[in-house]
Formats: sequence, structure tokens, C-alpha cells
Amino acid sequence: MWTFATAGRVVAGAGASEGVADLVAGLGRRVLVVAGGHADVDALAGGDEVTVWRHRGEPTVEDVRAGVARAREVRPDVVVGWGGGSVVDTAKAVAALCRGDGDVLDHLEVVGAGRPLPADAPPVVAVPTTAGTGAEVTANAPVRVREHGVKASLRGRTLQPAVAVVDPVLTLGCPPDVTASSGADALTQCLEAFTTPRATPLTDPLAREGLRRAARSLVRAHSHGDDLDARTDMSVAALLSGMALANAGLGAVHGLAAALGGRLGAPHGEVCAAVLAATTEANVRALRRTDPDGAGLRRYAEAAAVLTGRASARPEDAVAWLRDAAAALGLRGLTALGLAGADVPEAARAALAASSTRANPVALEQGELEDVLRASA
Ligand SMILES: NC(=O)c1ccc[n+]([C@@H]2O[C@H](COP(=O)([O-])OP(=O)(O)OC[C@H]3O[C@@H](n4cnc5c(N)ncnc54)[C@H](O)[C@@H]3O)[C@@H](O)[C@H]2O)c1
Repeated sequence: MWTFATAGRVVAGAGASEGVADLVAGLGRRVLVVAGGHADVDALAGGDEVTVWRHRGEPTVEDVRAGVARAREVRPDVVVGWGGGSVVDTAKAVAALCRGDGDVLDHLEVVGAGRPLPADAPPVVAVPTTAGTGAEVTANAPVRVREHGVKASLRGRTLQPAVAVVDPVLTLGCPPDVTASSGADALTQCLEAFTTPRATPLTDPLAREGLRRAARSLVRAHSHGDDLDARTDMSVAALLSGMALANAGLGAVHGLAAALGGRLGAPHGEVCAAVLAATTEANVRALRRTDPDGAGLRRYAEAAAVLTGRASARPEDAVAWLRDAAAALGLRGLTALGLAGADVPEAARAALAASSTRANPVALEQGELEDVLRASA
């Protein structure tokens, strides 16, 4: 059995963000705009019932608490998240918690109490300015928990935005390093949602098309940031990756990123990219050993064909393509991102406990995850 859920409405294409003020006006009068440092939200900031709250960085428990406190004062009818995935997630979390009286830790999975989110929440209009996370169409929000050194998610139906406005024009100003790390996240999400056994007939075409667009345009968007066609491919790839992951799940790459994200402080997409090739290699090796004629390897062969453009590609060719792409994008390995060799066993243990790891195409042991981390140095 499977289900499919996404944002209530998706408005996409160059110039789509010009309609946000009208969209928001149709949803309510009192507006809280959670905006990234760079985001130009002047079009929204008109009336005296609009509050703009700026947020920077990947959200921590403390950030979400601060946003919720502001929102409980404002009591918004609608919340806008205008910025990178970090800002969109912060807006989603703030909206989901602001009408209850609980704390973020009451609802956080893995390290929190994991209680269901309040049923009542203002609608969210999500306006991404990076092409990467797909957070505009997902029902979770990862939050960094410093004291545990991990990232864990809030998860629930009320986190799904009412409207996703995907305008590639907003990503034209994204610097190359952010283009590379966020784009690598979209690529990873498409690959993991395509290769997980939880993939469905509805997520497959989304993940496949997202993979195709990211393979075609990620390096180009990085080297030629003003290429609107490449930016459009990446915005669509990110959107499709979010739709796919929200309904199929991910895999060990995101399990490792959850384990590392709290301790490294490096961009999420770059952490994913650092472990992507080695995790794919470990998965393919384990599948060759345990299920050589199974669907898992066929999925990797198909993904390799999409990535390389060669119908005869083997699963291992995907690994080589991913290594080349990471090099072309100037993405760093785990040592440069701050992982010390002594932290490897604990990080692998935390990755085994992460929710995404359960959707991996094959069960990897602690030792295999440690090898992945060492090979990603
Ligand atoms: N909710 C989900 O389903 C989901 C999925 C994947 C990742 N995530 C989360 O998303 C976060 C990462 O988001 P991200 O990769 O979009 O990066 P980000 O939001 O952290 O932004 C990275 C940097 O780019 C800047 N920036 C963003 N857009 C810009 C623009 N157009 N021009 C110039 N600068 C710009 C930001 O200010 C920031 O400094 C992580 O916390 C990750 O865990 C969430």
C-alpha cells in the first residue's frame, strides 16, 4: 500500500514569485514572513499586519523556539517562508508549533519525545531561493540539536506547505558554492527516492525526471549561474526530489547526513555529496552480494543510464559519475568538512539510528557505514 501527498498547490516557472503577494492576501490578513538574509520581500512588507522575521543558517532548536515565540505574539493567519531550505523549514516549523503551547523538543523525532504536532496551524506559502531541498513540498523540517550533535526532524501533515511557489529567477543570484551544495542535495534525494524499496509508481517518474534534469544542468548552473534554462532544470529537479522523498523516503546518505549534520556545521547538501559516491558504492556492492538479480541493482543500473546518458551503463558507472560531478562542483570531502577519524564509529552508530537509513535499498552494518565514512574523507 502507498499514499501520495504534496503541497496543496504548486505555482512554478520564471516570474512565479511576482504573484506571491496576491496569493498571501487570499489566505489571510495577519502575515508572518520568515525571510532569509538575502531575500527581497519588499512586495510583501506593505501593510501594518505584515511582520518580517529574518532567519539565517540551518535551523537549530533555539532558532525554532525564537520563531515560535515571535509567532505566538503575532498570531498569523498565514506564514510565508522565503529563502533557502533552511528558511522554508524554519517557517514550516514555526507555523506548525505556533498555535499549540508545546516546545519543539516535545515533537522532534529520534532525540525528542516525537509527539504528534498540533492539528491546527496557519497555512504556509513556501518560496525557495535555492534549488535543492524540495522543502516547499515536504512534510518534515530537520532541526539541528546541538547537545546531541545530530539533526532530527519534525514530521507531520501540518508541515506540508499550502502553496509552493517555485521561481527559478530567485536562484539566479545563488553563489556557486550554494548552487553546488543545494543542487547536490536535490540530486541525492532523486537518487535515494528512486532506489529505495519504498519507491512507488507515482514517485518513480518524479525521481527519474529530477535525476535527468540534475544530471543535465547541475554543473552548468554552478559554472554559469545566469543560465536561466539550467537554473530552471535545477528548480524543477529540487521540486520533484521533494515530492519523491516525501512519499518514498530516502536512504543511508541522508541517514549519514543526519548523523554528521549536527556535529560538522557544514552545509547539508555538501555533507550529502561527500558521502554519496561511497554510499552508492557500498549499496551496489552489498546488493551484488545479497541480491544479484534483484530490483535494487536494476534500479541502480537505470539511474546510471540516466546520469551517464548511456543505456548500457552498469550500477558501478553511477559511482564514477557521482565522483566526477562532485569534483567538477568543487565539493569537499569529510575531512575538509571537519570530521575527525576518532568520530567515525559514533557517527556511524548515529546514522544506523537515523530514520532515513531504514529506507536504504539494503541493510548496511555498522562496519560498512564506518568504511563509507573513511572512504569519504
Ligand atoms: N524539509 C526537507 O524536506 C528538507 C530536505 C532537504 C534538506 N533540508 C534542509 O534544508 C537546509 C539546507 O537548505 P539549502 O540547501 O537550501 O541552503 P540554506 O537555506 O541553508 O542556504 C544556504 C546559504 O545560501 C544563502 N542563499 C539562499 N538563497 C540565496 C540566493 N538566492 N542568493 C544568495 N544567497 C542565497 C542563504 O542565505 C545561506 O547563507 C538544511 O537544514 C537541510 O537539512 C530540508
